[in-house]
Amino acid sequence: MYNDLERILFSKEQIATRVKELGAQLSKDYAGKNPIFICILKGSVLFFSDLIKEITVPINLDFMAVSSYGSGTVSSGEVKMVKDLDSSIENRHVIIVEDIVDTGHTLTYLIKNLKARMPASIKVCTLLDKECRREVDLTPDYIGFKVDNYFVVGYGLDYDEAYRHVPEVGVLKPEVYTK
Ligand code: PRP
Repeated sequence: MYNDLERILFSKEQIATRVKELGAQLSKDYAGKNPIFICILKGSVLFFSDLIKEITVPINLDFMAVSSYGSGTVSSGEVKMVKDLDSSIENRHVIIVEDIVDTGHTLTYLIKNLKARMPASIKVCTLLDKECRREVDLTPDYIGFKVDNYFVVGYGLDYDEAYRHVPEVGVLKPEVYTK
């Protein structure tokens, strides 16, 4: 498993420290607002579950799954809904929780889709921001770490559904995905 990684980019400790900081900031910004935190499955599941434990004010949770058409390592820009929210977000403050923002197409779709439901506000919290790959004008409101254009896996991020459970974020060796 670890043999497939070129190097560790963010250790367990680095992630935990940053998640605590984000949790403290969100707790401050959303005090008294009873926001809904939305986990975008599957990649953000580890980040989401650690982040919400650091929130010290009342919140609700919900889950959504989307997938981009096309396969492999390149996103096509088209997104489809796989699982919708269970709850209404009308007049609610919404925080979309993502593991990574890459081209930005997934978030563009999500924001447009959720805005149509008349929430009080929508903000985005992402663990990783791969800004150099952006194809649309979009800046997440809360960012764990900025990353360069590496193929990153672990802490929720996958390659072909593997490595999601790895507790660190690492760079996958090119020979693994060019096989
Ligand atoms: C990943 C990630 C984001 C999206 C970002 O999800 O979780 O949702 O890609 O890419 P973009 O900015 O180029 O749209 P993916 O579709 O791989 O699904 P997963 O979360 O189930 O791994």
